[in-house]
Amino acid sequence: MLFDKNIIQESKESFLNLFPEELDWGIVLGSGLSEASGYFEKKEEIPFSKIKHLKEPSIEGHQNKFCICRFDNKNILVMQGRLHLYEGLSPFEVSLPIALMGELGIKKLILTNAAGGLLPSLKIGDIMAITDHINLQGANPLIGISNSSKFIDMNDVYSKIYINELKKRFAIKTGVYAGILGPNYETPAEIRFLKKIGASAVGMSTVMEAIIAKYYQMEIFGFSVITNMTAGIQKKLSHKGVVETGKKAAKKLGEIIKLAVS
Ligand code: HPA
Repeated sequence: MLFDKNIIQESKESFLNLFPEELDWGIVLGSGLSEASGYFEKKEEIPFSKIKHLKEPSIEGHQNKFCICRFDNKNILVMQGRLHLYEGLSPFEVSLPIALMGELGIKKLILTNAAGGLLPSLKIGDIMAITDHINLQGANPLIGISNSSKFIDMNDVYSKIYINELKKRFAIKTGVYAGILGPNYETPAEIRFLKKIGASAVGMSTVMEAIIAKYYQMEIFGFSVITNMTAGIQKKLSHKGVVETGKKAAKKLGEIIKLAVS
């Protein structure tokens, strides 16, 4: 399915029937990271299945709901669970929740993910603020837009505003996120390639969402939780290990998100 404004409008209408209030922030929590929203007061939960056209994640470590939370006098729409291209979905289907956020008027977005660390400076459990991305997914959610609004500027996709502030408070790293299609992890040769082209960490999500969020002119903050070192550096990789490490790092990520939102 290609980008379709009518579909987004219908998703928006079904969302507004359930929650008509204004929303200030959007947050997407990746594999094993759901608990990062524990600092926020929960107001309401909306399963993805209640929103027209929204697909449901099919993988372990992802829940299937929006939580509407309250923090610092702000309404925050938290996506617990996200959609991936490797689930057989189109780029538009993967990024529809973010397009929905855009149509709902959300202007600030936090994207989080679990990622494999490529550089010796990154350790398991580290949190890396994303400064830029490389789209290696061979896909784009803007395909289907008929007018020239699709030619978006990708300078400064990820906001740098808070990174220096965050660095003063937390032992946070910074780097470039490479998004691959998956679902298999990389080969050692692919990891050598990713290092050469300037990636710091690699994962299977985030870039479709960041592109559509940029289309909607959102301010985007990206955080990778380094759940493993990549192939060639770490001998055994498993989704279970990724989710377990993510769960351990979720509290620290929650503190960082809290500071970013306030
Ligand atoms: N590679 C790709 N995606 C990932 C990884 C990885 O090593 N870890 C978590 N998501």
